Amino acid sequence: MKFFIDTADLTEIRDAQAMGLLDGVTTNPSLMKKAGGSDFHGHIVRICEIVDGDVSAEVTATDYDGIMAEAHTLAALHEQVVVKVPLIPEGIRAIRSLSSEGIRTNCTLCFSPTQALVAAKAGATYISPFVGRLDDISTSGMELIEQIVQIYANYGYATQVLAASIRHPLHVVESALAGADVATIPYSVLMQLMKHPLTDLGLERFLADWAQYQQAAATSNGAS
Ligand code: G3P
Repeated sequence: MKFFIDTADLTEIRDAQAMGLLDGVTTNPSLMKKAGGSDFHGHIVRICEIVDGDVSAEVTATDYDGIMAEAHTLAALHEQVVVKVPLIPEGIRAIRSLSSEGIRTNCTLCFSPTQALVAAKAGATYISPFVGRLDDISTSGMELIEQIVQIYANYGYATQVLAASIRHPLHVVESALAGADVATIPYSVLMQLMKHPLTDLGLERFLADWAQYQQAAATSNGAS
């Protein structure tokens, strides 16, 4: 399973990259707002220079011509850029055209299996079902991941399932069990994946015992 980090924060991206855990990055306009700054294109290039992997950068136009123009600009920034396009009719039309041109796309804001099927038929590189936002409205986000994985397997679609809007470690576990190709994970959740109270407790005991062992060894060496 590939791990992407869902952030535009360069410090978080550098930390995750340094741990050797990163296969890519996803950004969106809200994450750009959170990260701040005024040079969107420069920021995307800086992210590409930090990570070895795909970096999703989102268009903000909602008409076909506008999406295509923004997509060409974004794709030209760096070879690692994947153009993120919203799952609307104009977006699907653009994904079809971009796919024919060999430009990779991440079809975002997916909330149903029919949307995912349409995105795959259009040739999207990735489909991004938003798990957490479905859970927020009392609908199973994970059931959607399972349905999409099944549908794509039935027909051999190459579109990769990218579980997005991940809120906690269980979302990562369930996405992995369902066979999602990628999980895009916020930094805080990425760190939670490594945490276990028994690991902390076990390490504390090992270190305390080691200190006592060393103390006893020093006493014994001093006595001999
Ligand atoms: O990748 C999409 C993701 O950023 C949305 O997450 O938490 O805003 O629903 P969230």
